[in-house]
Amino acid sequence: MPSSFDVIVIGAGAAGLMCALTAGYAGRRVLVLDHANKPGKKILMSGGGRCNFTNLATGPANFFSTNPHFCISALKRYRPEHFVELVERHGVEYVEKAPGQLFCAHSAKELLGVLLTECDWAGVTLRMNARVERLERHAEGMRLRTSHGILDAGAVVIATGGLSIPTMGATGFGYDIARQFGLRVTQTRPALVPFTLTSHWKARAADLAGVACDVAVGAVRGGQRLGPGRERRYREPMLFTHRGLSGPGMLQISSYWEPGDELEIDLLPDVDIAGALASARRATPRRQLSTWLGERLPRRLAQALGEWYGEDPTLAELSNSRIETWRVRLGAWRLRPAGTEGWRTAEVTLGGVDTEAISSQDFSVGGLSQLRFIGEVLDVTGELGGYNFQWAWASGVACGSAL
Ligand code: FDA
Repeated sequence: MPSSFDVIVIGAGAAGLMCALTAGYAGRRVLVLDHANKPGKKILMSGGGRCNFTNLATGPANFFSTNPHFCISALKRYRPEHFVELVERHGVEYVEKAPGQLFCAHSAKELLGVLLTECDWAGVTLRMNARVERLERHAEGMRLRTSHGILDAGAVVIATGGLSIPTMGATGFGYDIARQFGLRVTQTRPALVPFTLTSHWKARAADLAGVACDVAVGAVRGGQRLGPGRERRYREPMLFTHRGLSGPGMLQISSYWEPGDELEIDLLPDVDIAGALASARRATPRRQLSTWLGERLPRRLAQALGEWYGEDPTLAELSNSRIETWRVRLGAWRLRPAGTEGWRTAEVTLGGVDTEAISSQDFSVGGLSQLRFIGEVLDVTGELGGYNFQWAWASGVACGSAL
């Protein structure tokens, strides 16, 4: 006789655990299956081990999706304050590192502990090292052939996440199931991912590996600026690496960037570069440009800029047209990345299961309420800053409370 559950959740990550505990508290018999040896691995590795678990300013504008309205309902019903209340109830200390971005004060382990404790209290059964070989429609529900035998469920929730970091257990399982049941999967690509450079830019970045500075960055395609809001650029730190460019600003813009696009980087986003150079030329004509730059940029970068462009004039030597050349070099530095570091280091997947056929209320598949998709496996992807976990919690709760 197959074992039978009201709900089987596939994927013991953020969305799957949240959905499971919500359905468990609603009185459902819930089993969570995961092929990895431990649950919540991405929670543990996120935010540098401290998990940026939500963003107090979360709203639909923080998400990319073919259908930007899809996320609205779930995000409205389960808000950052609700998750903060859960965290506080368990006595987990947290800090607001940047405006709205909440991280565990000590370790992401505490946050995973909250979810596992809640699952336990809600009577959820968790089975790790479980392979799902087949999923098929069966009488009133679904039947799974797994490495733990045949399992029947009234409903199956796919919470297998995206493709990033395959070594942490990421697979395209959710997309395969979606296709099996006739759903479309939008094109996927790595996002929130560092850029790689080639030739002289790679060597120059490698020389500066470890140097960080605040920048404003946008992407440029066919002369068109791409980026968030009206400004179309992110104002966040950039980090030089041995392979290219990283840091929050670069991860953010990677969600807009496509192969062939350029990046436009403002190394001095708070400075009217032409005006400041012209007044410095009047006030301190004998100073070297590198000295002026060194007061505004990390010293190693200021020196490198002179080397890259083969000049370090005094300010008096800067004609108006040379000032304009430096304004562009510093304020609108354009370069074309060779690519990104790909799935190996990407934090998220852009694209996924098309939401067209999914209910934004309970996350069921149209015409087949026994099958549901939640979390990152869907074509809903957040910006950097805690939005992706908030989506996992919100979609998990919306689905779990409707099971
Ligand atoms: P998630 O990927 O968490 O879980 C999917 C689960 O399904 C995994 O346990 C996996 O083993 C399992 N699975 C996959 N295939 C399976 C199969 N075939 N059979 C059985 N089980 C299977 N977000 C954020 O908001 N703040 C942050 O600080 C960070 N930081 C961060 C750092 C790094 C390095 C990464 C890689 C990602 C982040 N993120 C983040 C993104 C965030 O981790 C991500 O969006 C959520 O974990 C998505 O939650 P899900 O539950 O949808 O998938």
